[in-house]
Amino acid sequence: MLEIRGLRAWYGNVQALHGIDINLKKRELVTLIGSNGAGKSTTLKSITGLLKKRSGHILFEGEDISFYSPARILQAGIALAPEGRWIFSDLTVEENLRMGAFTRPRDSLEGALEEQFELFPILKERRGQKGGTLSGGEQQMLAISRALMARPKLLLLDEPSLGLAPMMVRTVFSLIKNINAAGTSVLLVEQNSAMALSIADRGYVLSTGRIALAETAASLLSDTKVREVYLGGYANGDGI
Ligand SMILES: Nc1ncnc2c1ncn2[C@@H]1O[C@H](COP(=O)(O)OP(=O)(O)O)[C@@H](O)[C@H]1O
Ligand SMILES: [Mg+2]
Repeated sequence: MLEIRGLRAWYGNVQALHGIDINLKKRELVTLIGSNGAGKSTTLKSITGLLKKRSGHILFEGEDISFYSPARILQAGIALAPEGRWIFSDLTVEENLRMGAFTRPRDSLEGALEEQFELFPILKERRGQKGGTLSGGEQQMLAISRALMARPKLLLLDEPSLGLAPMMVRTVFSLIKNINAAGTSVLLVEQNSAMALSIADRGYVLSTGRIALAETAASLLSDTKVREVYLGGYANGDGI
């Protein structure tokens, strides 16, 4: 479904990605893990067309989307819940959700909203509340839900566990697992590698802009070398 070949990316003259290859099959939940500054967000910004200075190829369902605009990539079926969530704090929960569907035909919007309220009952309860007044966990759910409003085939998640209490992390990760089980493919970027690997099918370990390892989630999870060399231990999570 998604095929990234030889992706290189730059910020000015500084190269952040040095030729990475990633594949994701339809319905898979793939995680991209690695420490801070490894290039995880840069990879997602490249897929969604937000970062222009790059080379290599990004194919989605056989189509080369490498040079599509962000809006066209969203229309093609790829939506991102960005790092730091980027909730509109002065807009209500419902208004935030409606923003996620801006590429959709108007008549499908109410249906998409109802779907989201079914998946996230807490957001229905808080639909009239300003985004900025939600708890961290609720804001993360809103960011994911807003991305789903576009009814993507592939959902990209950038560090959904960031800044959340352990119990909320578990809640958010089971939601991600459910979203994937319901048919949406997921590329999950995380520093919390133990949690990410516990719900993923496969994982890629990114280290200073290069793919260091690509394995099934189970084998990465049991590999002590991975733990010590690339991930600095699993102290930040204990899995579901
Ligand atoms: N806006 C930016 N300008 C310059 N350098 C950046 C910018 N964003 C990220 N970088 C650099 O690119 C590298 C990869 O960053 P990033 O993809 O954000 O890492 P990660 O998401 O894995 O923590 C880092 O060295 C980082 O400092
Ligand atoms: Mg990042």
